[in-house]
Amino acid sequence: MFKKIFQLYKIARKLGTSGAIETLNEIYKIPIYIKIFFDVISLGSQKKIQNFSKSPGEKLCDALEGMGTTFIKLGQFLATRPDIIGEDLAKDLEKLQDKLPAFRTSVSKEILKKELGEKQLINISNLSEPIAAASISQVHTATIKVDGSNVDVAVKILRPEIEKLFNEELDALMFLAYIVESLIAKTRRLKLIEVVHLLREITNIEMDLRFEAAAANELYENTKNDKGFNVPKIYWNYTSKKVLTLEKVKGISIREKDTLEKSGINLKSLGENLIQHFLRQAVRDGFFHGDMHQGNLFVDGQGNIIPVDFGIMGRLDKNNKKYLAEILFGFIQRDYVKVAEVHFQAGLVPRETSKEEFAQALRSVGEPIFGQTIKDISGGNLLAQLFEITEKFNMSTQPQLLLLQKTMVVVEGVARKLYPETNIWEVSKPVLEGWIRKTKSPEANINQAIDVSKEILKKIPDFPNFMDRANYALQLISEGKLNLSLKNDKGLEIEKMKLKNLRNNIFLGIFSVVIVMLLVF
Ligand SMILES: Nc1ncnc2c1ncn2[C@@H]1O[C@H](COP(=O)(O)OP(=O)(O)O)[C@@H](O)[C@H]1O
Ligand SMILES: [Mg+2]
Repeated sequence: MFKKIFQLYKIARKLGTSGAIETLNEIYKIPIYIKIFFDVISLGSQKKIQNFSKSPGEKLCDALEGMGTTFIKLGQFLATRPDIIGEDLAKDLEKLQDKLPAFRTSVSKEILKKELGEKQLINISNLSEPIAAASISQVHTATIKVDGSNVDVAVKILRPEIEKLFNEELDALMFLAYIVESLIAKTRRLKLIEVVHLLREITNIEMDLRFEAAAANELYENTKNDKGFNVPKIYWNYTSKKVLTLEKVKGISIREKDTLEKSGINLKSLGENLIQHFLRQAVRDGFFHGDMHQGNLFVDGQGNIIPVDFGIMGRLDKNNKKYLAEILFGFIQRDYVKVAEVHFQAGLVPRETSKEEFAQALRSVGEPIFGQTIKDISGGNLLAQLFEITEKFNMSTQPQLLLLQKTMVVVEGVARKLYPETNIWEVSKPVLEGWIRKTKSPEANINQAIDVSKEILKKIPDFPNFMDRANYALQLISEGKLNLSLKNDKGLEIEKMKLKNLRNNIFLGIFSVVIVMLLVF
């Protein structure tokens, strides 16, 4: 227990000295006694000087980056939850840099030896200095022996002790969240305990590289017959919880437009292919790379796209795919009443909502978009606006659809950086139409889609309620990290019980100290 109190003290001190509390105060108006508490606890240490020209969000990013892995992850997680912290702050937190200094290559060697065994270590040669270092892991290159021949690989290695540190810090944070929620009723809206609990669930999975290996493998299997998209191969004999070994990418970063052009790559087709591959994976397989920024994409000499970093994956189930197809198809046909109908039939919008008003709101999203020159239409933005509308009508967006929408915006952005004139709608249309045609029988139309939605409703009578309950789990699933759901809630209950116990123990502890002191003096 004393260890826990000490952890709590360390975390509180970290928070106090980082400048995070001052920044949070600018945003949320923290009660004065909490501020004083943090001021007292960080007495005697150098407080971080704040840069006054920065916005509160930027200052918060600086503070979180300075506090290490746990807080970087917390910030990244909150960036995906505008429903909790608001749009503006979430946007600012997206800029959080996931970087930490690299650890020594000799340490990496030790980890390799421990994880893979001395025998296997002999088969690894040319281990390079780290080529990239982030908050959870770092990457080296190396050569391994496979069936007697040499293969060039990238080796991702978890930071030493990261899991222990993370969980200890989270324990303390969890307790801090509990104290704050108990003391200040209005902070309950921020769901602090739930946030910390979810963060633990998600990140603990990220700290097992076998999950990333499995995700890479699944994407590899799904796309092995797709021309132009090559997922690196995983070497399972050189992979463990803390080590991920995969084929080394021999390509040019998609960021290096000039180099790509000089090697004769057609940037226009490259951008188009990227959009189409991404969309196809989302709608055909219901499994997509959820982190497709430029740093994670490479291109080989033949113009093949090669992704890396399979830590965040998105999964769409059958119903989600159907929902997506129907609304996109409805939008393409500019049939807003039908789109509204689909939402109603699936029970996604509260019953008392006016259908006409909802359709009207949908029209207000669709029409201006179709009023633009067709090349400016963005699928990602269309979905973003649609979700904004549905949220206004009290329908909470499922996190995996949100991840899809966000990734869509990123993918379209990468394509437009390669070729600014990319006509996203024209490029997306064949994939969407082809898929919709396949999903529905030739004579099928949107009316049938509504019938299908009715069927879903019949099977799950309390669908909206169910969605609400499953919300936590969906967040995890959206990142490809967990299977459904109730288990989680149990986890959270257990966590809360532990907190109560801890609180009682601490009271008991303080009480005993007082008694002892009374007896002694
Ligand atoms: N298979 C690979 N081949 C070559 N370079 C790689 C490979 N995998 C990762 N890298 C390099 O290491 C960097 C970090 O790896 P990544 O998997 O993206 O880790 P993180 O989750 O830290 O972003 C990548 O941006 C890329 O430059
Ligand atoms: Mg990366």
